[in-house]
Amino acid sequence: MPARSTRRQFLGRTAALGAASLLPAASWGRVLRANDRLRIASIGCGGKGWSDLVATAASPHVDVVALCNIDESKDHLGRAAEKYSSAKLYTDWRRLLDEANTFDAVIVSTPDHMHAPISLPAMQLKKHVQCQKPLTHTVHEARQMQTAAKKYGVVTQMGNQIQSHTAYRTAVAAVHAGVIGKVHEVHSWQAGKCRWRTVDDRPAGTEPVPTWVHWDEWLGVAPERPYVSKVYHDFNWRNWQDFSNGQLGDFGCHILDPVFMALKLTAPTTIRGEAPPMNREVWPKSEKIVYEFPGTELTVGKSIRVTWYDGDDVFPPREALGLPESYKLPGSGSVLLGEKGSMVIPHVAMPMLFPEERFSETDMPVVAARDHYTSWADACRGEDQATSNFDYSAPLTETVLLGTIAARLPGTTLSWDAATMKLGGAADVQAMLTKKYRKGWEPAWI
Ligand SMILES: NC(=O)c1ccc[n+]([C@@H]2O[C@H](COP(=O)([O-])OP(=O)(O)OC[C@H]3O[C@@H](n4cnc5c(N)ncnc54)[C@H](O)[C@@H]3O)[C@@H](O)[C@H]2O)c1
Repeated sequence: MPARSTRRQFLGRTAALGAASLLPAASWGRVLRANDRLRIASIGCGGKGWSDLVATAASPHVDVVALCNIDESKDHLGRAAEKYSSAKLYTDWRRLLDEANTFDAVIVSTPDHMHAPISLPAMQLKKHVQCQKPLTHTVHEARQMQTAAKKYGVVTQMGNQIQSHTAYRTAVAAVHAGVIGKVHEVHSWQAGKCRWRTVDDRPAGTEPVPTWVHWDEWLGVAPERPYVSKVYHDFNWRNWQDFSNGQLGDFGCHILDPVFMALKLTAPTTIRGEAPPMNREVWPKSEKIVYEFPGTELTVGKSIRVTWYDGDDVFPPREALGLPESYKLPGSGSVLLGEKGSMVIPHVAMPMLFPEERFSETDMPVVAARDHYTSWADACRGEDQATSNFDYSAPLTETVLLGTIAARLPGTTLSWDAATMKLGGAADVQAMLTKKYRKGWEPAWI
């Protein structure tokens, strides 16, 4: 059971709760220079948010000035409050944004359904944003995030940190250098077990909300539903359509990232999904999504097919990969089939080239890792660059989320025009680019 004492202990540092508008009243952007310190606020500082916070605060130029978490227990708000003892504490991100003159940048590490609703008003206040992956819960939100980042001139970064790992950087550089030639097909997969799939439908009944959990704030923009322990908060929200995009949403922005970057992909033109029938609550146990992208200078022909597979022990068919039988596929990753040979990009390990004998003399220079977190903090201060900025990561997220729409319409080929945001191929499919928001919680669209 979580340590309840934190609630009383931290109350003195916690901003008062209460109703206020969602929209920021004024802009508090501060132009930072290299000698300035970056004041960061972390929203969702438990779970992955804890490591996002600690890794970013490792920068010698960062001060952690505010922490927000809907759960006041030790594992969530408590641990961060103890480590960053001078930070002001909040349980409602809206109250944090009300005090926008106290910080320069936010880290948003909440469940996916709250990424855009929190990040959009933060950007409107000219706050730099680091936001977890997938960037958003809907395609419309992703486009809004990209547009907002440009409009407000803020420094942004999505939390697909493997992009900065030496393994992914080496793979991307090798494809750009033409090591496997132009690429004609890609298969990507996540064959791991879903630890978060605890139930297959909405549980009956309710439970009292623990005194240290702010359930209404956890739900945020999502429709109301009763609190049930271990089913939603924490971590297991991934199972649910209202809060997440299932296995593809969870891993697509990692595993498809080096594919996107290596081949300079932009947006798919068609998307076709296969998945077992699903209810309106949880994501399916497996998915296969076939994307067709326009060809690029790194691909063969006018278009390139990228096929995604997920599910417990679900791998691409071996015969499609042309790899030696003796080679055991990693649990997740991609195979890029090129004119000169194939590259396997495991998630996460160094890339491998096949046939091995053909590449035995090939030099694949190792590219050093970057620090995904402190490079964002440095970029906020006018130094360095954030490589997974929303101009890059929003289109990647859109691609992933279009796949989750296709999974709901198995066997249907959807057409996508990214410029006009027109999704076709099935009745009413355009409406699936967005969703209904809880009354009173509508996001601050730009
Ligand atoms: N990049 C990665 O490798 C990686 C790994 C794990 C999770 N993630 C991403 O990180 C995010 C969080 O995932 P998680 O597994 O840590 O989830 P989690 O449920 O374990 O943790 C979320 C944290 O945010 C808090 N929180 C929830 N709603 C909040 C709100 N409205 N305001 C403030 N705090 C709130 C929770 O109390 C908890 O501390 C997700 O977007 C997920 O996809 C990324």
